[in-house]
Amino acid sequence: MLKIFFGLLWLLGDIVPWHLASNTIRPTDVRIEYWLLKQYDDVVIDTHTPIISWSLPTVANNNYQQRDIQQMAYQIKIYERPTHDTTTSILLWDTEPAASSFSTVQYNGPMFITDCRYELHLRYWSSDGVKSNWFIGKFRTVFSDVFNGSQWIGSNSINMNQLRKTFNIESSSSITSAFAAISGIGYYELHVNGQPVDPSRKLDVGWTTYQQRTLYVSYDMTKFLTGGANAIGVFLGQGWYNRQQWIIGPGPRTELSTQYGPPRFIFHLTICLSDKSTININSDETWLGREAEHRADNVYMGTVVDYRAARPTFSTVTFFDNTSLWINASILSSPVKDGTLSLQRMPPIRAGPDALNIPDLSSIDDITTSIVESYLYGADLTKFNGVLIPIGTDYGNGQIFDLGQNFAGWCRVTGINVPSSYIVQLRHSEYRYSQGTNGIRFNGIDTENLDSIAATDTFILNGSVNETIEPMFTYHGFRYLLVNGLPDVDSSQVTCYPVHTETSLIGNFSSSSVILNQIQHNILWSQLSNTMSLPTDCPQRNERRGWMGDAGLSVDEALYNFDLIQFYLNFLTMIQDNQAADGAISDTVPFTVGFSPADPNWGTAYIKIAWALYEHTGDITILQQYYTGIRAWIDCLTRQYRQTGLAHFFGHWGDWVPVAPMTNLSLISSFAYLHDVHRFINISTILNQTENTKNYTELYHTLAKEFHTVFYDGTLRGYADNSQAANVLALALPNVVPDEIQTTVWESLLNNIKSQNMHFTGGIVSVAQLYPLLSSNGNHDLAVQLASSTTYPSYGHMFNNPIQNATTTWETWNTLPDSAGSSLNHHMFNSIGSWFYRYLAGLRLSLAEHRIYIHPRMTHDETLLKAVSATVKTQKGLVRVAWTRAVDLLERLSMPSLSAQIVKMTVTIPTTLEGIISFDPLLKSGQCHSIYVDQKLLWKRSSLYCPQHVHTSAIDDLSLITVVNGVKQLSEVVQSGTMTLRVSSGQYQFHAVWIENSC
Ligand SMILES: *[C@@H]1O[C@H](CO)[C@@H](O)[C@H](O)[C@H]1NC(C)=O
Repeated sequence: MLKIFFGLLWLLGDIVPWHLASNTIRPTDVRIEYWLLKQYDDVVIDTHTPIISWSLPTVANNNYQQRDIQQMAYQIKIYERPTHDTTTSILLWDTEPAASSFSTVQYNGPMFITDCRYELHLRYWSSDGVKSNWFIGKFRTVFSDVFNGSQWIGSNSINMNQLRKTFNIESSSSITSAFAAISGIGYYELHVNGQPVDPSRKLDVGWTTYQQRTLYVSYDMTKFLTGGANAIGVFLGQGWYNRQQWIIGPGPRTELSTQYGPPRFIFHLTICLSDKSTININSDETWLGREAEHRADNVYMGTVVDYRAARPTFSTVTFFDNTSLWINASILSSPVKDGTLSLQRMPPIRAGPDALNIPDLSSIDDITTSIVESYLYGADLTKFNGVLIPIGTDYGNGQIFDLGQNFAGWCRVTGINVPSSYIVQLRHSEYRYSQGTNGIRFNGIDTENLDSIAATDTFILNGSVNETIEPMFTYHGFRYLLVNGLPDVDSSQVTCYPVHTETSLIGNFSSSSVILNQIQHNILWSQLSNTMSLPTDCPQRNERRGWMGDAGLSVDEALYNFDLIQFYLNFLTMIQDNQAADGAISDTVPFTVGFSPADPNWGTAYIKIAWALYEHTGDITILQQYYTGIRAWIDCLTRQYRQTGLAHFFGHWGDWVPVAPMTNLSLISSFAYLHDVHRFINISTILNQTENTKNYTELYHTLAKEFHTVFYDGTLRGYADNSQAANVLALALPNVVPDEIQTTVWESLLNNIKSQNMHFTGGIVSVAQLYPLLSSNGNHDLAVQLASSTTYPSYGHMFNNPIQNATTTWETWNTLPDSAGSSLNHHMFNSIGSWFYRYLAGLRLSLAEHRIYIHPRMTHDETLLKAVSATVKTQKGLVRVAWTRAVDLLERLSMPSLSAQIVKMTVTIPTTLEGIISFDPLLKSGQCHSIYVDQKLLWKRSSLYCPQHVHTSAIDDLSLITVVNGVKQLSEVVQSGTMTLRVSSGQYQFHAVWIENSC
């Protein structure tokens, strides 16, 4: 079928040559298993059915993105490049030109072989006559049998955290390829012939439930090895494996503490030679190890590094050391019990400039940028180049440096000149003392909110000239650095590095509100601070766990702002690994604290993350892969429900950290349960699981009825205690609040907000529902007003208070000065960031349907929000929306006399996608007067009407006056007044004019 179509296309090709074929046009953002091939020169996969995806480049003409361009066909070829031979390439798979607009394809060619290089060739044809050039990318494969013959090694007798091994390559043949696989836990660093193999890789491998799944990493070592003698070196850190583990609260304490032991690693190196022979180097007892300069290292406590014991040349062939004790390594047990050793399928944690990639998000039309405000406090992610330097220094309990930004990472101090054996300590905090309760004023750093941990790095110097100190195998969450034990340090000696899983900033949100922009700034930094191979709750105190509640609440925001597809896929796999036979999942993953089954609002992360990944990729295989597990979790909840009913439904944490007393726990848990069942029906429909769709729809109807019956209190005119949170959660669930009492419940909610002086008093669960609920139910003005508040409790209060002008999102709405403060760097309140993109910018991705929805909600009070600009570099290309409201725009449309409200909106829809652009009324009872495209009148209402008095048939003629390339169809929702245009890909500038409804 495809071939026949293509025969046609070829014919056409002969008649109308692909005139735009050029060397410069290629598919962009080509990914395999979500690795961006352009960005990584050594992409490694361990699957035989990788997902290949790409987007089409933006084609600009006269500085304007061209419209209505569709991909007509693509062709993918995969070549095998044998490892013993650098010249041959064998064609393994060829899709031939395949007629399709799809740009996500699953490889279904022959099985790959392990340790082999491959090349991916990809090109496309598009409707504008372009036959693109080939994109060529490389990847290679590895499968876990790669460790055959290798042993886990380390030591039970000494703190063996540095190991080495020399070996010879005795052959006249040249090295054609050399691949190393290593897993080192808690952490490792791999060195070869005197240098680190990848110095930017930190705190590797990622933290997992090691007995279920331990991650390994593969390195291309070809360029590091030479014929003759070679040496390999490994540093080990304790990480999360040999932990001094503070269990706060309930948790599976004994189970875990007995499972883990001293650090260990497994290593295998395969060297291929041109004579087709292979040399294997394994980890075994022949390796020598010792205790290195890092005498102690601990994620929470910090490190103790004795530079007198450093042996920087330990991984060289000629290394000789007769002053430290090198002994043979011992074989240790594998950390994996009934689990797997599997490839780390996400970028590693990196530091500073290596950790964050900043793609160009600028657009062809940047007019709106000029009216967008900046934010107030902190370091700009797009400008700080990955390095924080002090913005000030003074003295408190030592010399204190203010980095001006709260973050997760560490500092390096250079240029130290002190005698050998000097001890220097670096301490870290988020707070400075202000006023003591007894009136005494301190000026030091305040570490009270770290609870029982030190977060202190101790260095014993060796006395050399211009010494540098930098911690190993730990990280801290802080804004202030305290230096103890040194004479005056100049600020220029201090550089600090944010540390997190490597990612790219793919989103930009800014607005005319400096408050909203500061919230967005804080969201970005608290998200990155907690992107540490898994979503941690906080980066500073004795916690830093994979709390599911936090992860589920921020995932959508995180995926709008950062390219974290692989990071969350890894976390989903961990959740799935950890799922019990009865479907139960736990509050934290790895399960170190909390309960199993998880609080329903924590367990919901499973379904939220899977769904968010689907929305942000359009990749249906993600839903397929986790479908059974998600269903098992819902069924686990259903079994709990059958025992108690919703009235007594279980929960542990509820609407965490509210201001008002927390509302009925069972209601909060029931909310999550219903939410998940509803989403599951959604997913079942997408996956054509008709039986499940039917059964769970029935279940949902029962639950929805019961929710209302059990929790509604007619006397209070609201749910449960009639608190804001309870009513928000009820209203947010589809079909729970009966139509006839919708008005009553809304009144209760709005009155309560008014009685709190326009503040919301709920916690993390309800606030995530609040903003979308208000904006999609005619209360968008209130939503913007609440979001713009700077008084307690509000997001704005976090940077408008006597304690600190926050540069990250706080754990609580308030933190008390001079008492055990809470974390200043949490992401569980970051859910509002999703509302920024979805409602203020109005940007919703539906990539599986090849569609982008743009529907910015507009306040009726023009002064609340005047402009928004948002860009997201999606998996299918750059999406952009920028809107401005201004009366003077009328003059440009030559209608200054009209008493009207007007919005200008610039929109960019990526090539091959369709845009559904909606314009919201700018006035309370506004009617759209006219719509312009590129300043040309597209449509004008011929006569005004009263929506409440008309039938659908009386709707105004919606046919378009002007034929504009790419603009397909206009529709109107009479009740709301919203006007919607269907458009093809490309860039558009619209003006929508609104006038008062004269009814
Ligand atoms: C130590 O640092 C100072 C200041 O940067 C520099 O002038 C000097 O050359 C350095 N000394 C050595 C031995 O590197």
